[in-house]
Amino acid sequence: MDFDRKIKIAPSILSADFANFGAEIRAIEDQGADWVHVDVMDGHFVPNLTFGPPAVKAFRPHVTTFMDVHLMIAPVDAYIEAYAEAGADMITAHVEASPHPHRTLQAIRATGKKAGIALNPGTPAEAVDYLLDLCDMVLVMTVNPGFGGQKFIHSQLDKIARIRALIGDRPIHIQVDGGVDPTTAPLVAKAGADVLVAGSAVFKDGSVDSPQIYGVNMQAIRTSIA
Ligand code: DX5
Ligand code: ZN
Repeated sequence: MDFDRKIKIAPSILSADFANFGAEIRAIEDQGADWVHVDVMDGHFVPNLTFGPPAVKAFRPHVTTFMDVHLMIAPVDAYIEAYAEAGADMITAHVEASPHPHRTLQAIRATGKKAGIALNPGTPAEAVDYLLDLCDMVLVMTVNPGFGGQKFIHSQLDKIARIRALIGDRPIHIQVDGGVDPTTAPLVAKAGADVLVAGSAVFKDGSVDSPQIYGVNMQAIRTSIA
């Protein structure tokens, strides 16, 4: 995957119809999604439960763009292989998930997948100081992880800008995740983010029977930044 900082939209299928993931993934990609964001939750690191490796494996044949797997799980190292095997293109782990995020990133890189590190709202930008050279992406959470449809936390804008400065011209994406919509998207883009995760803002009012609404919703985010 060549690196560029062009704005990418990564719809989170946490907001999709849970009885129709294959059709929903095809629909968002047909309507212009750049990546597919898969939120893995374990009911321990975050107060919600979602997808194991078999589910991700089932999504894989429907994803033709890029499957971006966000692991909100702890412990995390034991599951990296399984999510890589299941077909993730990017595996993002939380810096807070263990005392050894440096080793976790090494383990993700060892699978040949792209490696991301995620920061919860309470975690300072400096947490990535000694991790950047093992990263293809830094994910800045703009909600406390666990659910879609939450309110954007504006204090994170300063963190995004700090991380953008830390990265310099290294080929490392900044992904923002949580409460991204046409109002907050320009703020995060201006601060330095280039991959925007959006769940409710993409899936709202649409369905597999009216997927064009997903396209309208994604276009509204893109236009808000232009
Ligand atoms: C929250 C997830 C986010 C969430 C985004 O824990 O990591 O990806 O699904 O949903 P919205 O865009 O509705 O805030
Ligand atoms: Zn996510």
